[in-house]
Amino acid sequence: MSAASCLLSEEQFLCSICLDVFTDPVSTPCGHNFCKTCITQHWDVNTQCQCPMCKEFFKQRPELRVNTFISEMAAQFRKSSQKKASSRSDQRCAKPGEVPCDVCTGTKLKALKSCLVCLASYCETHLEPHQRITGLKTHQLIDPVDNLEGRMCKKHDAPLQLFCKTDQMCVCLLCTSDHKSHDIVPLKEEYEGKKAELGKTDAEIQQMIQKRRVKIQEIKLSVGFSREDAEREIADSVRVFTALMQSVERGQAELIDMIEEKQKTTEKQADGFIKELQQEISELMRRSSEVEQLSHTEDHLHLLQTFPSLSVPPHTKNWTEVRVHRSSYVGSVRRAVAQLEETLSKEMKKLLEAELKTVQQFEMNVTLDPDTAHSKLILSDDGKQVKHGDVKKNLPDNPERFSTCVSVLGKQSFSSGRFYYEVRVKGKTDWDLGVGRETIDRKGRVTASPKNGYWTIWLRNKNCYEANASPPVRLSLKSQPQKVGVFVDYEEGLVSFYDVDAAALIYSYSGCSFTEKLYPYFGPCVNNGGKNSTPLIISPVNHTYKGSQIF
Ligand SMILES: *[C@@H]1O[C@H](CO)[C@@H](O)[C@H](O)[C@H]1NC(C)=O
Ligand SMILES: *[C@@H]1O[C@H](CO)[C@@H](O)[C@H](O)[C@H]1NC(C)=O
Ligand SMILES: *[C@@H]1O[C@H](CO)[C@@H](O)[C@H](O)[C@H]1NC(C)=O
Repeated sequence: MSAASCLLSEEQFLCSICLDVFTDPVSTPCGHNFCKTCITQHWDVNTQCQCPMCKEFFKQRPELRVNTFISEMAAQFRKSSQKKASSRSDQRCAKPGEVPCDVCTGTKLKALKSCLVCLASYCETHLEPHQRITGLKTHQLIDPVDNLEGRMCKKHDAPLQLFCKTDQMCVCLLCTSDHKSHDIVPLKEEYEGKKAELGKTDAEIQQMIQKRRVKIQEIKLSVGFSREDAEREIADSVRVFTALMQSVERGQAELIDMIEEKQKTTEKQADGFIKELQQEISELMRRSSEVEQLSHTEDHLHLLQTFPSLSVPPHTKNWTEVRVHRSSYVGSVRRAVAQLEETLSKEMKKLLEAELKTVQQFEMNVTLDPDTAHSKLILSDDGKQVKHGDVKKNLPDNPERFSTCVSVLGKQSFSSGRFYYEVRVKGKTDWDLGVGRETIDRKGRVTASPKNGYWTIWLRNKNCYEANASPPVRLSLKSQPQKVGVFVDYEEGLVSFYDVDAAALIYSYSGCSFTEKLYPYFGPCVNNGGKNSTPLIISPVNHTYKGSQIF
């Protein structure tokens, strides 16, 4: 056949319609050759029956028989051209991770396809029969895969071709007897379904990825804000502490100056005394030598004339009572520290004013929840005021309602972040304020303490202020608050109470751990014959108040 290859060129075995090597070649009456399918289809689509090469018309469609000789020659050419192709670079040895051809002996080439019927993988050369032989052409070829045995039913050694939807497993034709009355479909059908599901799953995954990316942005933004907060806080504290340290240093320097000044005065005084004493000594010594000289004189007249002026002692100071006092410093350090204390408390006041202004930014519009109010309480229509009314109203005893303590909660609850509200208590002799968690006991008589889920302070008998911690803390306040500010930082576990007008801190619960919703808690206490009839009033923050930027 190699001789024929030399004499005949491949072009002679190409169909002029498909331009490929003949498959089932037939000859027209005019002597031209085409693939049987090609010429049949050509005549099917054209109204006139004509040779595509020489344009000869045929009245009737000629009967076509396969030319066995040309057919054989064409097959040889196809084989040789495939061999040529297989020697080209796309025929490669299977690398690790690639599926090797199951037929190659020696060096295994990379498989191009796997056959699901033969359960084997083929390189280009060994795939050829599947492209040529009619019986093999119907085999289902897929991109090369490993482990074709896994595609066989282990029980029946037949290809897994079906899917049992009832048991959600792949089965072979013979398995169906074990899956009677089950919903069994061809693999392809289940594949389409699952593929569509995969599409949906993928869309969901993409959405999840997107959501997470957005979350990352959110977190980064929060961290950025947090960093800005931290930097601002550090700058502020450095400013405050620098000022404080400067006043401490100034206080110390002033104290030292004062002490040294005192010592200098003492030394100056002592120097003066010593100088004076030395002058008196010189004067006395001079007098002594005069007396000595006079005692040796033989001149009677001279002695008698001089004697009166020397016999009287020279005029000197009486030093008996003269003393240099040691300076006393008793109380000087205390006085200096007291001055510092004053500076410190001025600074403290400024800080508290700033703190109050900061927490006031978290003001919430709190209104009272009538469903929680004890039946003797009277709430205003706007839900901002509450007082004790002596008379028990006929109200349903719903689970939210306080039935023993004369209390009421706010409608708004908080499970994160920070919030603040102000309550006017002016004119009242007794009140309770604070926050309570959702599951507080609303039916029994319990102390409003953290142990029971309350973080509160109260006023009793006009002037007894207490924080209901365990044990209770008696609060000594400089002034009686008219308006109480309540601030909660949920994450920090902080509940603080402020005297709004004095810009003073009344009490702070810190380091609490909140796990439930928190509600504002109000106890106007009993009317007490009209002595405590003034309502508690939730009032809006006066942002123009005291030391604000406006003034
Ligand atoms: C000096 O003063 C003291 C008390 O003041 C007195 O007792 C004393 O006699 C005085 N001495 C002379 C020399 O005057
Ligand atoms: C507070 O809330 C109440 C009722 O929810 C509403 O009527 C009122 O206008 C609010 N006040 C402010 C200042 O937003
Ligand atoms: C808010 O405070 C300012 C300054 O003290 C005061 O003049 C004003 O009356 C206050 N407003 C209210 C509504 O209390």
